[in-house]
Amino acid sequence: MRIRAEISSDKDRIHCIYGSAFSTEERELVANLAVNLLLEETKPKTLSFVAETEYRITGHIAFSPITLNDNNYKGYILAPLAVVPTHQKQGIGSQLVQHGIQQLSQVGIDILLVYGDPKYYSRFGFSEETAKNYIPPYKLQYPFGWQGLMLSDRPPAKSPVQITCVPALHDPALW
Ligand SMILES: CC(C)(COP(=O)(O)OP(=O)(O)OC[C@H]1O[C@@H](n2cnc3c(N)ncnc32)[C@H](O)[C@@H]1OP(=O)(O)O)[C@@H](O)C(=O)NCCC(=O)NCCS
Repeated sequence: MRIRAEISSDKDRIHCIYGSAFSTEERELVANLAVNLLLEETKPKTLSFVAETEYRITGHIAFSPITLNDNNYKGYILAPLAVVPTHQKQGIGSQLVQHGIQQLSQVGIDILLVYGDPKYYSRFGFSEETAKNYIPPYKLQYPFGWQGLMLSDRPPAKSPVQITCVPALHDPALW
């Protein structure tokens, strides 16, 4: 398995990954998010990676920048992530998350946020405590899923900081 940056010709295959990994209710929403992130130009850049197993794309992850109303912090959000069911539980998801963490750490990002299952993300060090002062753009359906991981040696914000996401994530249905 190798991890590489996503290219535009991966678009259809990435759409299929989300189609196979997510439930019927969620798949279209999340697949469209993955593709829209690929099409959007952001500053700083959205990072998107695919896992390739024997030349077949088996996993995908994206990290998009967030704007914080406390400009001292540089942040990203991890979303979405999926691995095709036939290749789950082989460490692909973990390697995609760790690859992104490594890349973002190298460019001086302070905080990485995620909205997902704490049972999965806690293994990488994400916690609800770290995210508690970073206010998401919409009211969360599952507040316990909002987690953060500090990538620099700075402490998390001590008072509430409003975050703004890239347009693709500005959809209340995703929160
Ligand atoms: C979540 C997902 C990306 C993990 O990918 P993966 O390649 O199977 O992950 P890894 O092999 O690195 O890790 C597998 C471990 O994660 C666990 N895991 C997977 N999904 C989990 C979840 N939602 N909650 C808790 N644990 C989960 C597995 O049980 C396994 O545990 P183990 O190490 O104790 O055996 C993949 O299962 C997936 O695509 N799921 C559907 C889409 C999804 O839910 N994406 C968003 C994640 S919140």
